[in-house]
Amino acid sequence: TDPAIIRNFCIIAHIDHGKSTLADRMLQLTGVVSSRDMKAQYLDRMDIERERGITIKSQAVRMPWELDGVSYALNMIDTPGHVDFTYEVSRSLAACEGAILLVDAAQGIEAQTLANLYLAMENDMTIIPVLNKIDLPSAQPEKYAAEISKLLGCEPEDILQVSGKTGMGVEALLDKVVRDLPAPVGDPDAPARAMIFDSVYDTYRGVVTYVRVVDGKISPREKVQMMSTGTTYDLLEIGVSSPEPTPTKGLGVGEVGYLITGVKDVRQSKVGDTVTNFAKPAEKSLGGYQDPKPMVFSGLYPIDGSDYPALRDALDKLQLNDAALTYVPETSVALGFGFRVGFLGLLHLEITRERLEAEFNLDLISTAPNVVYEVMTDDRKLRTVTNPSEFPDGKILEVHEPMVAGTILAPHEFVGAIMELCQSRRGVMRGMDYLSEERVEIRYWLPLAEIVFDFFDVLKSKTRGYASLDWKADGEQISDLVKVDILLQGEQVDAFSAVTHRDKAYAYGNMMTQKLRELIPRQQFEVPIQAAIGSRIIARESIRAIRKDVLAKCYGGDISRKRKLLEKQKAGKKRMKMVGRVEVPQEAFIVALSSD
Ligand code: GTP
Repeated sequence: TDPAIIRNFCIIAHIDHGKSTLADRMLQLTGVVSSRDMKAQYLDRMDIERERGITIKSQAVRMPWELDGVSYALNMIDTPGHVDFTYEVSRSLAACEGAILLVDAAQGIEAQTLANLYLAMENDMTIIPVLNKIDLPSAQPEKYAAEISKLLGCEPEDILQVSGKTGMGVEALLDKVVRDLPAPVGDPDAPARAMIFDSVYDTYRGVVTYVRVVDGKISPREKVQMMSTGTTYDLLEIGVSSPEPTPTKGLGVGEVGYLITGVKDVRQSKVGDTVTNFAKPAEKSLGGYQDPKPMVFSGLYPIDGSDYPALRDALDKLQLNDAALTYVPETSVALGFGFRVGFLGLLHLEITRERLEAEFNLDLISTAPNVVYEVMTDDRKLRTVTNPSEFPDGKILEVHEPMVAGTILAPHEFVGAIMELCQSRRGVMRGMDYLSEERVEIRYWLPLAEIVFDFFDVLKSKTRGYASLDWKADGEQISDLVKVDILLQGEQVDAFSAVTHRDKAYAYGNMMTQKLRELIPRQQFEVPIQAAIGSRIIARESIRAIRKDVLAKCYGGDISRKRKLLEKQKAGKKRMKMVGRVEVPQEAFIVALSSD
């Protein structure tokens, strides 16, 4: 295909602002999917995505579009919408010359969208701003057009108004994509360089790798090479999605399509890597490649110890499709055999856990998520700690913790509450800008550990749901962090060890000892429950005479959750774990580790 008739674009939008609906409408209007075949949200393939209404894996679709008598090929690249997948978003953006900035006309721009917009602007991409859901009675197009025009430095009249639902304005948008976006440029005679922007495991075909060709050409049946590792593969198939996979005679400059090499594991075909011809390899890769880096760790244990091999198999299978998932076996006194699993963020953790439970029918206990610490002891060596119970004892010279650059967008009346929250989470303010008279962008530097648990929930409740949050990894800092251990009759219960800031250690110790006092049944002897920093006891409780109901603590809350707890409790009744001489029902661990 002649690059002059190609346009590559993606859609930057906040969750629920209507990206999938708009994409579906485009597929219909361009005739690649007939209305009859149209199942809602064609692009969201995985069931779990559909269930949660979020897009995790990106894909590309090629659509024909005619303007002024010329037939164009539009490649729409889907971008994941959630903060955990920033790197994948950045690669999707890098595959495009332009982006549609899609904003719900009843909501205005949100923090993640803003972050992705900045990323696109840094990459010198052409931005087409669009207000969506213009059919809604609550739409306020003038207000939000003013906000967007201020951000982009364009005129409010230049912002298209569309409705993905009714189809209004969508044809005009496709015309604008052709007119405004530059055609891709590259050297057709150079050795091939194609960037991998997505890589998806398919049970029948193995890994399907989505690429954007920058220079040269990739042809069917040739041998290709991954530039980050030098590994070579025979191409079994090359083609474009329109939207079903359609083999082609190869992909040239500016084209977007897929490669199938018989690879079985997405880690062999890594997002961000450059693919070149083996016979005539390029000298320099395209750059921007990063290994996925797990940011949050949690221990995952089967409730039924005999499920351990099944859990390992399930993790092996999930990893085929998820290069960012890492895990190593670990054992816990309290929980038995399990795995320490690394995730990109909390959503990634939740999705993985849900998939393990739903698709593999496993019942799991997970320990409280923690971040990665670098700890320097007397030997002056930094060691990496991904499990709080392995945080070294004894003299500690330095502890480094990961930091994030957080951006919060909210109506201005909440500025005070937001600052208070960020301050209480050890945040350092970095700046504040007014997007409009009413809405503010607030920037903080925050410890990742302080935002991974409940930060977003608290932020939402303090701002009546109006604030949105985006964060990205941003260095580390040395902090006064300590490990708090929980002891039952003097024995450490590893699953409850936590690393916290020294100022928050007492609160954690009190909370945990009180929880356990209520959860652990009376024994033949008195059982002291203590929280300790090293050998110093900071909180203490003793087990009471009458065992309380595990559910007594779950005031209100949702019924299905209680029912689930009850079921687990029944199943766990017979399962007692010994911590020293103390018999602890497994349910006590489950309840104590559940976040509420
Ligand atoms: P994620 O896949 O979670 O990122 O969401 P999305 O941005 O793809 O949003 P989606 O297309 O699923 O739309 C979210 C909700 O908004 C759905 O309930 C849609 O029916 C609704 N919606 C989307 N576009 C329009 C529109 O133009 N008008 C109206 N009234 N509703 C819309």
